[in-house]
Amino acid sequence: METIAVLAEGKKERYEELLPQLAALVAGEDDLVADMANVSAALKSAFLQYSWVGFYRIEEGELILGPFQGKVACVRIAVGKGVCGKAAKERRTIIVPDVDAFPGHIACDPGSRSEIVVPLKYGGDCFGVLDVDSAELNSFDEIDGMYLEKIAEMIARIFHQSLSGK
Ligand code: SME
Repeated sequence: METIAVLAEGKKERYEELLPQLAALVAGEDDLVADMANVSAALKSAFLQYSWVGFYRIEEGELILGPFQGKVACVRIAVGKGVCGKAAKERRTIIVPDVDAFPGHIACDPGSRSEIVVPLKYGGDCFGVLDVDSAELNSFDEIDGMYLEKIAEMIARIFHQSLSGK
């Protein structure tokens, strides 16, 4: 079993250290739930300010809670609602510097101050989102967006493999 260890100081360097470890962690395992679970755990342990890291999957037009690390969360979110639903509907990454200033933000965890949601896309369709909450304001910027989108692409490849049964 791989051990995830991310020691770098800077955010970019942390992601650079984490990405190959995540790739190794999911390599050879096509089970989407297992890989989402381990990716959530690895991300949360690499960034101590992250209060919640996890996935929502789109099932019949609704976001349904998937594997995550953090406090218990809302199970179902309509596409278009909250930060997660907006990112899924618009199929784009949404960065929220201050959740209290985001109209319609769904407060699952009162300790969350800022948030980023990245859509999981395959073949033009959005099949879920990766949601990361932080206990600090202004935690996320385009560096997080870029690296979390790479992680979303990793998950999308596993999604495709799990669909095609390979
Ligand atoms: N804050 C999210 C809801 C999900 S929780 O943060 C885990 C939203 O507004 O969509």
